[in-house]
Amino acid sequence: MNQRLTSQIVRFSFSFLFCLGLLTPRFSHADSTAVAAAGAPAPAVAAAGGGDAVGGEAVFKANCKQCHAINDVVVGPALKDAHKRWPSKEKMAGFIKYPQKVIDGGNAYAKGLYDKYKQYMPNHDFLTDGDIDNVIAYIVKESENPTVAKEETKVGPSSPEKGSDEGSGLLAPVIAILLVTLSVVIVLLLVVINLVSKILGQKREDLNESDIDQLEGDINWSILFNHPLFKGVVAFVFVVMIGKVVFDKFYSIGIQQGYAPDQPIAFSHKLHAGMYEIDCNYCHTGVNKGKSATIPAANVCMNCHNVIKTESPQIKKIWNAVENNQPIKWVRIHNLPDLAYFNHAQHVKVGGIECEKCHGPIKEMEVVQQHSPLTMGWCINCHRETVVKTEGNAYYDKMVEIHQANHGTKKLKVEDIGGLECSKCHY
Ligand code: HEC
Ligand code: HEC
Ligand code: HEC
Ligand code: HEC
Ligand code: HEC
Ligand code: HEC
Repeated sequence: MNQRLTSQIVRFSFSFLFCLGLLTPRFSHADSTAVAAAGAPAPAVAAAGGGDAVGGEAVFKANCKQCHAINDVVVGPALKDAHKRWPSKEKMAGFIKYPQKVIDGGNAYAKGLYDKYKQYMPNHDFLTDGDIDNVIAYIVKESENPTVAKEETKVGPSSPEKGSDEGSGLLAPVIAILLVTLSVVIVLLLVVINLVSKILGQKREDLNESDIDQLEGDINWSILFNHPLFKGVVAFVFVVMIGKVVFDKFYSIGIQQGYAPDQPIAFSHKLHAGMYEIDCNYCHTGVNKGKSATIPAANVCMNCHNVIKTESPQIKKIWNAVENNQPIKWVRIHNLPDLAYFNHAQHVKVGGIECEKCHGPIKEMEVVQQHSPLTMGWCINCHRETVVKTEGNAYYDKMVEIHQANHGTKKLKVEDIGGLECSKCHY
């Protein structure tokens, strides 16, 4: 009799716990990869020919990511299938190690790359041969990976980890607590049921027929489902799930107008871009080339600071970063949610829009802050109001012609070239 009820509950509990168990690794997994990524370059695996893609990923993230993505041009070319563009792995490794030597040495392909990207990739002679093997293995592997990282290109150089990682980092302990709580609740339930059945069993003679039926018959699930404890647990799980969704959303959008976090080094735009009039492009090299503006790597700072103000403690931090081969952990300020696509080159180079139009008076900012709301309404408004810069752009000649045929002298606005279409801004 009550054994049956107990065993059903036990079975139910186990399958429930099992399902939860299946769910949790997904969350904690994100966590562990984030840790791996943040770690120092993996020790070189002296792989016999092969190379270790996992170790290579760490090398890539620490040394290459600020300039390369697999599928997108960042500062350097997209590295998808790069290994197929080189006659041998040794040649490719040689190039990665001493690019300038190869380019100036008369390798026509390398020269072509240089002509296109107009800058030398830095030497990587500080990497071991094992590291380079590994990073090539990583490139090979990622080239074959069809789902690879739109994500990857989104993250600026040395920009802080994405919010979602932080979210799941917090989530893992929550799930663990949840599991423990549930186990305790289930054990308590079993004890209570056992006790009640025992007492009822002893008082059998006092029970009427329907009570005995209840005691011996099949489980009445509706009793379980209507039990306040069960409802409580379900509600709790539900609240936690909703909590996660809201939390993630909050993290990915969260950052707001006026946001001006403290940075690891007191870098001043007012001083560099304002007073010394250093061109934005000098540091944010991506603005004319691709999606991301990019934050300069520490060795860009070293172009000047290996001689300027070397005694300053702030500048010593840059030296440290370079010597330890660790990116400076700038805190990212502007950050659209993943669902939206924004491209700097499209706006700066093609559209001819000044940085200040969107980012405000950067040249006067001691500490950068987010000037615009970065909401969908903000993007759309500008696309409604702004006239497309068509002069000198043959690409638009035909469109202007058609537009004028239909609308007379009305100017061609961004909305007229599809700037309000959902798919232009959403993946
Ligand atoms: C500071 C920016 C920068 C960094 C850091 C950088 N690269 Fe490059 N890379 C370039 C540029 C620019 C080119 C184009 C060739 C040139 O002009 O030097 C390039 C070219 C390449 C190519 C040739 C691509 C092709 O299409 O054949 C490979 C391979 C490559 N890089 C691998 C790497 C690896 C691996 C790392 C990290 C260990 C790395 N790069 C780090 C800027 C960079
Ligand atoms: C000497 C290098 C240098 C120059 C020149 C420079 N920047 Fe920066 N910029 C940085 C660095 C480093 C950061 C990251 C630290 C920070 O936020 O202050 C940054 C951050 C930014 C950010 C915020 C990025 C984020 O996290 O969202 C914007 C916007 C920006 N710069 C725009 C500009 C504009 C516009 C100019 C030209 C008027 C310019 N910068 C010139 C180095 C430079
Ligand atoms: C084109 C040259 C140039 C580049 C590139 C450059 N700086 Fe500077 N930086 C200067 C000059 C000039 C000063 C002012 C020095 C002085 O006050 O005597 C300065 C001052 C500073 C100071 C203030 C130091 C102090 O203690 O007063 C910091 C911090 C700094 N730079 C950080 C950076 C960082 C970080 C980068 C890279 C993102 C960078 N700089 C890139 C030229 C440069
Ligand atoms: C039409 C508006 C617009 C213009 C013009 C613009 N930006 Fe941005 N910028 C943005 C938006 C939106 C983001 C956030 C992008 C994201 O999160 O994907 C951003 C992000 C950045 C970042 C953060 C890192 C990154 O790579 O995304 C830097 C640095 C930056 N802009 C620099 C510049 C500079 C320098 C210029 C001028 C040469 C410029 N921007 C012109 C809208 C603009
Ligand atoms: C200051 C005005 C301005 C703001 C703000 C602005 N844009 Fe644009 N956008 C333009 C202009 C101008 C063009 C046309 C560039 C060209 O000639 O291709 C454009 C073009 C585009 C295109 C290509 C449209 C097409 O039909 O080819 C996309 C996508 C886009 N913007 C996305 C965004 C997103 C996302 C935001 C907000 C985060 C944004 N824009 C904010 C002015 C703006
Ligand atoms: C010019 C670029 C642009 C166009 C066109 C555009 N969006 Fe967006 N959209 C954005 C940006 C940027 C965000 C993120 C900022 C925000 O949440 O306000 C966003 C956010 C969203 C969100 C999420 C809101 C949230 O709360 O997270 C939805 C849903 C959405 N857009 C739907 C659409 C639909 C449907 C269309 C077509 C009718 C469209 N968008 C056209 C730029 C655009």
